[in-house]
Amino acid sequence: MCGIIGYSGNRETKEVLLNGLYALEYRGYDSSGIALSDGVSTKIIRSVGRVCQLEDKIRDEENFSANYGIAHTRWATNGEANLFNSHPHQVGHVTLVHNGIIENADFLRQKLIRKGYMFNSDTDTEVIAALLDSKLEGNNVISAINMMMKELTGSYALGIMVEHDPNLYAVRKDSPLLIGFEDDGCFLASDITAIIQYTNQYILLDHCEIAVLNQGNYQVYKNCKLIEKEVLMSDSKGIDPSKCGYEHYMLKEIMEEPIVLKQLIDRYKEEDRQKELDLSNYQEIDIVGCGSAMYAGFIGQSLIEEYAGIKVQVYSASEYRYKRKIYHRKTLIILISQSGETADTIAAMREAEKIGIDTLGLVNYPDSTIARECRRVILTNAGVEIAVATTKAYILQVCVLSLMAYVTAKNKGTLKFDIEYEEFENVPILLESVLERSYEYQAIANQIYSKESCFYIGRGIDYAICMEGSLKLKEVSYIHSEAYQAGELKHGTISLVEEGMPVLCVITDKRLKEKSISNLKEVEARGAKTIVVTTFELDDFGGELKIVVPVVNSFMQTILVVPVLQLLSYYVALNRGCDIDKPKNLAKSVTVE
Ligand code: F6R
Repeated sequence: MCGIIGYSGNRETKEVLLNGLYALEYRGYDSSGIALSDGVSTKIIRSVGRVCQLEDKIRDEENFSANYGIAHTRWATNGEANLFNSHPHQVGHVTLVHNGIIENADFLRQKLIRKGYMFNSDTDTEVIAALLDSKLEGNNVISAINMMMKELTGSYALGIMVEHDPNLYAVRKDSPLLIGFEDDGCFLASDITAIIQYTNQYILLDHCEIAVLNQGNYQVYKNCKLIEKEVLMSDSKGIDPSKCGYEHYMLKEIMEEPIVLKQLIDRYKEEDRQKELDLSNYQEIDIVGCGSAMYAGFIGQSLIEEYAGIKVQVYSASEYRYKRKIYHRKTLIILISQSGETADTIAAMREAEKIGIDTLGLVNYPDSTIARECRRVILTNAGVEIAVATTKAYILQVCVLSLMAYVTAKNKGTLKFDIEYEEFENVPILLESVLERSYEYQAIANQIYSKESCFYIGRGIDYAICMEGSLKLKEVSYIHSEAYQAGELKHGTISLVEEGMPVLCVITDKRLKEKSISNLKEVEARGAKTIVVTTFELDDFGGELKIVVPVVNSFMQTILVVPVLQLLSYYVALNRGCDIDKPKNLAKSVTVE
């Protein structure tokens, strides 16, 4: 993960880099740092923790005026989150920032130690700096970078400064990096949000291309030869940093769900537009994603199999990319990603494209790698998500998959009951009514927030809902939580159920209701504190703690249940005093394997 930014130009370098770091903080917030140069000397300032802590340190250095610099916000991979491991790293003549992972760092470190280099950190990044420094003798910087790249294995996006050299250098392999520019300045950045307040013009660096930036000028080299690059324009609006009166971005983003949902449902009102949702050409579908994106996939699997009769398999991208694939029939791979930058999902996409399997990206972030590279793309357009835990983007992923199941079933003639598209149009209003009852979820949160462990149980699509609910709870509140298929719990795991342990059961599937109730009784008999989330239609059974949501057609029922679980997690985390928008150890965009 990690975010990098660099700037060379007439603006106040410190300000540009700091603003960029704030915009990139979602990529990691274990530590941050900045290197500034006035062309003669280099000043490095680093801080553990958030960018605001770095800012305090930089403010103490007001009188250093820089023409160019690089900066970094870190999600720790090699080495713990301390000051020594914070970027930028400086070795000899080289100062650099890095996003990615060098796989042969230990081997290279030993080799460099034998040459006389000494290391102050546990990072692979310091190894890159030493390696580049070792190549500088007798070579110009571009040749040295090329020589360095030949020895590096792994992924990297680098912003590089070399002592007494007025240029900034940028190079990447398998980690994202772009170059932005305006009349009197150039930027390097992990993504466009870091620089969008200054420019929307950029070029994308391809693998092993080297960019040289100097004030308003840039050149790009491939194999030491100058090359031309296509200039792209972003229509990203950047991050709106206001919380609109909400205490946290997570709450604000949950409350935005009805409006973004309405926009998405309106988008597909016209039958002509619905064609892009039709999957009836395919006999098999693999859905690939990570975390919540994969869990959205499980909802899609349930609906597409049930109503459209197409076999669907769901995979974690980190497993999918390395597994042996067996494609018998006409297959589509749907890649789901909010950020469009998740390393494993990108790798799965590229592999599929290489072997010629149809791919469809379901992505939120329009300037992302998956949005740009995938053969076919559907944008969820949930707007920017700032809270690390995804909420509104997940809801829109589920909505697109639900509409795919509906449109495909209609086109294949497999739908056994009548539903007109208009029925979907009142779902945002119903969702609003669900969100308005947040005081109910807060009351339940008050009863369970001090517990250390809990289960979410359900059957069929309700189990898929539980997976997302359970993930949300653990990531923002740090309560250990597991989602389990309700019928599977007694095959071992029920031994963990203790007096007072919360067990939340989701029941929206009429056919499986009685079965789930039996499983609920089994845990109740062992002292669990049970919470049921169900629909008004099914609510004819007892239960101490119950949340009842409106009924909609089965394509959209999930969309009225998961927001309840999101809010429940939010209020539990609030009670526990957690850092809700930036949970520990996490980052919004997972750009390493
Ligand atoms: C959970 C969460 C993560 C992401 C996962 C995939 O709240 O946000 O589990 O869903 O890291 O990220 P994207 O969707 O950006 O590929």
